Amino acid sequence: MGTVEGVRVSVKLGRAKPIKNMHSIHRFKVQQLPIMAIISSCTASTLKDAATSLRSGNLVAFPTETVYGLGVDATNKDAVSHLYQVKGRPTDHPLIVHISSLANLNKWAREIPEYAIKLARAFWPGPMTLILSRTHLAKDFITGNQDSVGIRVPSHPLASALLKEFEGQGGLGVVAPSANRFGKVSPTTVGDVFEELSGYLSPSDLILDGGPCQVGVESTIINCTQDFPEILRPGAITATMISDLIGLQVNQIATGSNKSLIKAPGLLQSHYAPKAKVFLSTTPDLGDGFIALSDIPTPPGAIRLASPKDNNEYAQLLYQALRLSDTKQISNVIVIPPTGDDIAIAICDRLEKCAYKG
Ligand code: TXA
Ligand code: MG
Repeated sequence: MGTVEGVRVSVKLGRAKPIKNMHSIHRFKVQQLPIMAIISSCTASTLKDAATSLRSGNLVAFPTETVYGLGVDATNKDAVSHLYQVKGRPTDHPLIVHISSLANLNKWAREIPEYAIKLARAFWPGPMTLILSRTHLAKDFITGNQDSVGIRVPSHPLASALLKEFEGQGGLGVVAPSANRFGKVSPTTVGDVFEELSGYLSPSDLILDGGPCQVGVESTIINCTQDFPEILRPGAITATMISDLIGLQVNQIATGSNKSLIKAPGLLQSHYAPKAKVFLSTTPDLGDGFIALSDIPTPPGAIRLASPKDNNEYAQLLYQALRLSDTKQISNVIVIPPTGDDIAIAICDRLEKCAYKG
């Protein structure tokens, strides 16, 4: 069952083809094969059904303020194993547990340092993941055999409502990686989720439509298992915001080539990558894609993929722009990265990871 524009309807979709630029379930042209339902205009009742579905071991893709996540019950081993298959992700690559509030943190994490509590109080709900020592609840099958666990309280109203309902039904946490196939660009709209996963989800799975994500890049991941916090993945919560709050030095893990740290996010050679080759700060040739802040004019012959007015909008639009290069079958994309010590750091981190390594 699902709702479209507030009306409860029975949703039975066939293998569907997205039709661009429409914002409802109707954008999907129904063909023959059964496929998962996409729920637009979620209501309390559909969220309840979605939470029940999670409790039964199914997959539910849902919006967060950063990117869309693909959720399953964090305590259900079979469901988690299915999630890894759907993502095409190696099982030693750990997952983030999503909970509805800081009040539930003790269930999953122990020996929580004082500075981590301060961070949680200041930035949750929001785009921040804390890596903490795990309790017995965080099993090897979600932590990739590590003794730590990643925890996040998302702020998107749909994510929040879904998690509350899930916990109300006795659930303890939802693991949710970004709702893309492993190594690909994270989805920031429901159409992107469909494009990534429609071939892998089954009729009992669901996709919740919460509109485009506000932040647009994944959460800041902070390792809190040591005396000082260490940023493993930059995001909207920046090193400056963290050190201003807690008055401690913040280490930023080196990005790029450290392959031994596979468990830290996005340290594989090719990550967040579209099909097109991405080049940073070079001059485009005729027919190349071009992404830059709006005050930088489009070089002659280049195809403009995004013109964000500031760094926040840059983060919001980046993944959609990279996806657009694939839709337009562009072979090369030239990106002029933003500068600054705000979300620009996260954008540059993702760009370095998706840049063509030759
Ligand atoms: O914004 C986000 O964090 C999104 C939304 C859906 O919440 N989720 C997300 O999940 O980006 P995922 O699985 O695509 O990326 C999470 C990263 C992984 O690369 C993993 O290496 C890292 O978090 N991670 C999870 N648990 C960890 C741990 N115990 N130690 C170190 N890294 C961990
Ligand atoms: Mg991801």
